[in-house]
Amino acid sequence: MRGLIILGRQGSGKGTQAERIAERFGVVHISTGDMLRAATAEGTEMGLRAKAIMDAGDLVPDDVMIAIVEERLQKPDVQAGGFLLDGFPRTVGQAEALAAFDGVDLDLAINLDVPVEEVTARMLARGRDDDTPEGIARRLELYEAETAPLLAWFEERGILVVVDGIGTEDHVFDRLTAVIVVGAK
Ligand code: AP5
Ligand code: MG
Repeated sequence: MRGLIILGRQGSGKGTQAERIAERFGVVHISTGDMLRAATAEGTEMGLRAKAIMDAGDLVPDDVMIAIVEERLQKPDVQAGGFLLDGFPRTVGQAEALAAFDGVDLDLAINLDVPVEEVTARMLARGRDDDTPEGIARRLELYEAETAPLLAWFEERGILVVVDGIGTEDHVFDRLTAVIVVGAK
C-alpha cells in the first residue's frame, strides 16, 4: 500500500497541507493529533488521559500510539488508497514499529521545514488548547529531542525529502505536489 509521511515542527502546516495532498492524490490523511482530540471529545478513557498529556505538550506513550495507528492502517479505505501520516511517527521507536507493520511500504517522508520563530508565531495565532506559551515550548523541546532524529533515520533509508514550508499555503502546496509526483514510487 502506498505510504507517505509528513514530518515537521509543530505548527509547520502539516495538517493544513496534508488535507490538500489527500484530496489531490487520493491517499487517506491520518493525523494522530486529530484522532486523539476526537477521542477526547468523545470522552473515552484513553481520550481523557491523552488530553492531559497533550495540554502539557508531552508525548502519548509509544505503545498506545503504535496500537492506534496499526489498527487504523488496517481499515479498507487505507488498504485501497494508501495513507499520508501526519504526526506519526514522532519517535524512532514509532518509526521502527511502522516499518515493521505487515504490508506497509514507506515511499516518501517529507520534512516540511519551518523555523522555530515562525512556527511559534503560527501556533500563538491559532490558539488551540495546547497552544499556550508553555505547551509550545515543551512540544518544540520534544521535537528536537525525539522527532528530529527521525530525519536521519528516513534519510538513511533513502526516502527523505525536505520542502520549504515558508510562503503562502498555495506555494507550499505546489512544492509538495512536485516532490510527491517525482519521489513516490
Ligand atoms: P498534533 O495535533 O500532531 O500537533 P503538533 O505536532 O503540535 O502539530 P500541529 O498540529 O500544531 O501543527 P501542524 O504542522 O499540523 O500545523 P497546522 O497545519 O495546524 O499533536 C498534538 C499532541 O498529540 C502532541 O503534542 C502529543 O501530545 C500528541 N500526539 C500526537 N501524535 C503523537 C504521537 N505520534 N506520539 C505521541 N504523542 C502524539 O498549521 C499551524 C497554523 O499555521 C494554523 O493556524 C495554520 O492555519 C497556519 N498555517 C499553515 N500553513 C501556513 C502558511 N503557509 N503560512 C502561514 N500560516 C500557515
Ligand atoms: Mg496538525
